[in-house]
Amino acid sequence: MTFSRIAGTGSYLPEKILTNKDLEQMVDTTDEWIVTRTGIKQRHIAATDEFTSDLAYHASINAIASAKINPEDIDLIIVATTTPDLTFPSTACLLQEKLGINKCPAFDIQAVCSGFVYALTTADNFIKTGSAKCVLVVGADTMSRITDYTDRSNCILWGDGAGAVILQASIEPGMLSSHIHADGRHAKLLCVPSGVSKKDSKSTISMEGNAVFKMAVKTLDAIVDETLNANGMQKSDINWLVPHQANIRILQATAKKLHMDMDRVVVTVDKHGNTSAASIPLALDCAVRDGRINRGDNVLMEAFGGGFTWGSVLIRY
Ligand code: ACO
Repeated sequence: MTFSRIAGTGSYLPEKILTNKDLEQMVDTTDEWIVTRTGIKQRHIAATDEFTSDLAYHASINAIASAKINPEDIDLIIVATTTPDLTFPSTACLLQEKLGINKCPAFDIQAVCSGFVYALTTADNFIKTGSAKCVLVVGADTMSRITDYTDRSNCILWGDGAGAVILQASIEPGMLSSHIHADGRHAKLLCVPSGVSKKDSKSTISMEGNAVFKMAVKTLDAIVDETLNANGMQKSDINWLVPHQANIRILQATAKKLHMDMDRVVVTVDKHGNTSAASIPLALDCAVRDGRINRGDNVLMEAFGGGFTWGSVLIRY
């Protein structure tokens, strides 16, 4: 049987930093309110001439180096993003051109904050069926481009960034299981009302924060049980939790559900806010590079986002 295994990780954050103090000058908010309610201290913002594919490119180069492969070895590119450079071609195709390769298939996946979990699940299935051997999986978003910086109810949350992994075929697991879900009935609670086919006067994020928060905690609670049951594991079998970095209070609720100390939870939300599809691979790369996550560790990744979409991936790193 063929499994898939993460061979390397990479990430990238744009240079410009927007702090809570900066936001105090823009909307009626305080550093204290933002830190207490969300855990966020700063976020990175892409330069005007920097696009999602550029962020994806830098993260990919780092992942390629960490996996010790050449770009030509990649036989599939999947980019999870909600903020593509263009309506088309896909950001994955633009990334492929930047990487100087041109033979492999490349496509985008849109599942908002759950995008990376969806993309990893898709890549895993390509590998398991023998359709691919070396997949570049990227989560990249420029959320600042769809943020209304006069709306204090959510502009304090978002940031820009990218994270990437190289997923390779392996005789050992690797990815132990993945679980993805969606429920379109709640679309209006978290959305950008305007798009390509449908136009609206509002083209920035609209969110009923409190309702989304409650739903996120409840849903992530259930996905922890689903993942543990599918693998016949106990809570204590999980070495690391790498959650979607949305809000520290949501992360704490999931850690509590797992009876896990916060020092086993990879937290980067303070440094880059909610970067949507980029947040899990950004956090994963951080904990791999600083030596916290090691080969053989059981790592649970989980996410919840617009759609609603949600999901989890359990890996043996
Ligand atoms: N600064 C100061 N006060 C504020 C701010 C702000 N930036 N924003 C709201 N307030 C005020 C409100 O007006 C309200 O005041 P009131 O009590 O006088 O009416 C009070 O603070 C409380 O507002 P709530 O909205 O109830 O605050 P809450 O504790 O819910 O925190 C937050 C808001 C941070 C947005 C939270 O609801 C949240 O994180 N929600 C989940 C978001 C999320 O995780 N999304 C995940 C998916 S993201 C994706 O898929 C793209």
